[in-house]
Amino acid sequence: MSEKDIYILGIESSCDDTSAAVLKNDKVLSNIIANQDIHKKYGGVVPELASRAHLSNIIPTVESAIKEAKISLNQLSAISFTKGPGLMGSLIVGTEFSKALSLSLKIPVIEVNHMQAHILVHFINNGKNLPSFPFLGVTISGGHTQFILVKDYFEMKILGETLDDAIGEAFDKCGKKLGLGYPAGPLIDKISVKGDENKFKFPIPKVNGGDISYSGTKTAFINFLNKNQTKNIEFINQNINDICASIQKNLIDNLMNKVHLLSVENNLDTIVFGGGVSANSYLKKRLEKYSNDNDLKIFIPELQFSTDNAAMIGIVGYLKYKYSLKSNLKSSPSPRLSF
Ligand code: KG4
Ligand code: ZN
Repeated sequence: MSEKDIYILGIESSCDDTSAAVLKNDKVLSNIIANQDIHKKYGGVVPELASRAHLSNIIPTVESAIKEAKISLNQLSAISFTKGPGLMGSLIVGTEFSKALSLSLKIPVIEVNHMQAHILVHFINNGKNLPSFPFLGVTISGGHTQFILVKDYFEMKILGETLDDAIGEAFDKCGKKLGLGYPAGPLIDKISVKGDENKFKFPIPKVNGGDISYSGTKTAFINFLNKNQTKNIEFINQNINDICASIQKNLIDNLMNKVHLLSVENNLDTIVFGGGVSANSYLKKRLEKYSNDNDLKIFIPELQFSTDNAAMIGIVGYLKYKYSLKSNLKSSPSPRLSF
């Protein structure tokens, strides 16, 4: 081990994935994610079950991350963990585990904002170009839809956000109405490939400025399904591909309108995406065309770094370590943490 090398153990437990990662400086040595299948049968995350599953998963997940990284625990320089936002019971498991391990290893803990991490994940060194400041950060997940002016690693300002449902939540709730499993986002993405995106039209809620709304679309979608099903009980089965493609287009159109507005208004030519919905293949197709037409630089994380993962917590840990932004054992979870 060279003396300058920094080894960070990142821990993520904000929602329903237990994840641990090891970074050597800005490079990922391991990134282990234990998904919690228990929530599938309830059609959404059950907080009490999530925290119990984190408790049983956290030690084996950390052990796997250390083993895959081929390091020993006493090589670690610090432990970074998700302080928030997220579910209280879930956050407590990661926070308290990190503090206990840091105490026994006599190394610092570093608290991380989950939403900042979804953006700063792009600073992992995997041989590709890194975004340059300033840029528009767009976090799109099951819990958040935010547009952020990113001036520097830790200088971020929210330009707008959802007034109600997050975009991933809209995917999941519409999918639930179609009888798809949870989370429905990836399934809608897959089914839509075979459908006509212009077959059915749904309204886009009008919201001024950088904010966005999805709950009106969801209600219109439910009414649309109910109306058609009273006429034809087989409506969903017979039209599933076109229904999925059409609602997916609507949700992405709404997002793209705001991305365009905010990048133009703030004169930003770089747009950086994070969060589970950035895995959406139709969004990627739209962004490719949008960036070519407007000469923009677009960054979308690879799949393992777009949904919840500990590598993103590790890279923020590394950056904070370098800038001496360490925390201490008084650190506690913050379910509604903002920037
Ligand atoms: O970032 P994430 O793993 O967890 C948080 O919510 O923080 O995001 C999960 C969300 C879910 O709503 C899921 O349906 C959505 O991301 N998602 C997708 C796709 N993959 C995941 N939505 C649309 N298309 C996808 N391919
Ligand atoms: Zn997330």
